[in-house]
Amino acid sequence: LADGLAPPRLAGRRLLISAGPTFEDLDPVRFVGNRSSGKMGFALAAAARAMGADVTLVAGQVALATPPGVRRIDVRRAAEMQAAVLAALPGQDAYIGAAAVADYAPAETARQKIKKKEERLALELVRTPDILAAVAAHPQRPRLVVGFAAETADLETYARGKLAAKGLDLIAANDVSRADRGFEADDNALTVFWRDGRHEIAHAPKAQVARALLSLVADRLETGR
Ligand code: CTP
Ligand code: CA
Repeated sequence: LADGLAPPRLAGRRLLISAGPTFEDLDPVRFVGNRSSGKMGFALAAAARAMGADVTLVAGQVALATPPGVRRIDVRRAAEMQAAVLAALPGQDAYIGAAAVADYAPAETARQKIKKKEERLALELVRTPDILAAVAAHPQRPRLVVGFAAETADLETYARGKLAAKGLDLIAANDVSRADRGFEADDNALTVFWRDGRHEIAHAPKAQVARALLSLVADRLETGR
């Protein structure tokens, strides 16, 4: 069908997307964090809105404008991101976890700036909550739960491991060892895996990659698969 004849593919759907890094504070001036510009998650939010969805975007600290028509909730730490995501969960049709959540946070956050003393300093870190796994296991689980996998080796093995371990419907795997995709890049390429299939999304601007991933999401919401 030509553009304008078919209704937008995500019309009437509610999508919750997380994007960007989380920062786990060590003291008032330092943090532990992940590399992430938020560009992929923001591109997904913009594309989902353009495809007719009602979009809520939970964003870590990024230097990006809110896509028009998107409801944005800003957070800093993983714990705050989890609280915001779970609060927005009821009534969502799909959750896409595109955030680069820090896996570990400092065991304690100093109230004053930590002063340099010894030549070596060991930091004690504790695991953060796995937001994606919590959404997938939630009593109000959206029909579709989509994760990302940032890998530098053995893409398929690790991505399929995460798909199964977290109980996801789809996982979009990103080879972050390559400079032309992932992280701060404007382009990306993804391999999407599900239980009994896979789909390659070719190297392209993140806006185009976002539309391709959302079209897999729309297929599944349409067929109820
Ligand atoms: N994720 C999450 N909460 C965390 C860690 C990860 O929601 N505390 C989500 C990410 O947003 C992503 C997916 O889980 O959608 C996979 O993230 P990734 O870092 O690739 O995998 P991990 O499960 O954290 O495993 P590892 O970093 O050891 O590869
Ligand atoms: Ca991780």
